[in-house]
Amino acid sequence: MDIVVSGMRPTGKLHIGHFFGALKNWVSLQKKYSCYYFIADLHALTTNFEHPENIKEMRREMVIDWLSVGIDIDKSVVFVQSQNIYHSELFMFLSMVTPVSWLERCPSYKELKSEFEKQGQDISNLGFLGYPVLMTGDIIMYDAKYVPVGIDQLPHIEISREIVRRFNSIYNRALFVEPEALITDVPKLPGLDGRKMSKSYNNTILLSEELKSVETKILRMKTDTTRKRRTDKGNPDICPVFDYHKVFSTDDEKKEVVYGCRSAKIGCVDCKKILIKHMLEFLAPIQEKRAEYEKKIDDIDDLLKDSQNKANKMAEHKMELVKGTLKL
Ligand code: TRP
Ligand code: SF4
Repeated sequence: MDIVVSGMRPTGKLHIGHFFGALKNWVSLQKKYSCYYFIADLHALTTNFEHPENIKEMRREMVIDWLSVGIDIDKSVVFVQSQNIYHSELFMFLSMVTPVSWLERCPSYKELKSEFEKQGQDISNLGFLGYPVLMTGDIIMYDAKYVPVGIDQLPHIEISREIVRRFNSIYNRALFVEPEALITDVPKLPGLDGRKMSKSYNNTILLSEELKSVETKILRMKTDTTRKRRTDKGNPDICPVFDYHKVFSTDDEKKEVVYGCRSAKIGCVDCKKILIKHMLEFLAPIQEKRAEYEKKIDDIDDLLKDSQNKANKMAEHKMELVKGTLKL
């Protein structure tokens, strides 16, 4: 079976954007591939090294969300990156064959660095520059063929491929598999205010959002701002609520909304009520599962023990081959 690897930085409770942007795909990949999904806590430290205090809690919340949407620890290997020392070790060896210039010219590096600088945080640390190298290790450790990621991660996968080619050619041995990004069609799901959905904008709906709050949040959602009165005609194409309908509603409902909005036959509240109904239907089963896991899981390290051991064993074996190749 072909191997799939992907990771997520621990950000605590996940929102519906994470589901449609990544997790939904992760869950379905489990049917066809041998999947490795891990919590990239070392990656989180590359930028968040001054605030490590919440990392354990964030890991726990995130894994509970993974399980609640259907990531299956009997099928997939689910583990914590920092609890597998070989990730750090492989990072070290890969850093020998990675020219600094590849990392410096990585577009996501340049963008993020200036973004952080604007916020007054200096991230000129080596760890952050080496972010794609650590990521490469995560992937090639398990001979992954496919890596499901968002488009923002494409430059990193490109670097991974280059590192693999360079390593294999220097040591004249096909030790690592060149990975391929698996970009899925992700529906556009903006934040409640129409901007990008992000915790820092406070415009999300969490997978664990209280159902009462889901309703209030949707009722307060931005609409086509030119539709000021109930009698004004609206344009669904520029309304974030309609982006949500595209994801959650049936074809008939979408038609009804488009027609009703453009002709002012339905009001925004009616339109949003359709969405609320779907959203609650979507979240309820996820939250039921979450409640069960929360009761059961004190310590995710316990829950993931078998899975973690499996990942660590695989990595240990791969690192023996790497060290052999490097005559160590
Ligand atoms: N950088 C990825 C992100 O922010 C997380 C990540 C770390 C990852 N290592 C990985 C994703 C390996 C895929 C494969 O989304
Ligand atoms: Fe948006 Fe619906 Fe209002 Fe039209 S009716 S502006 S699609 S919320």
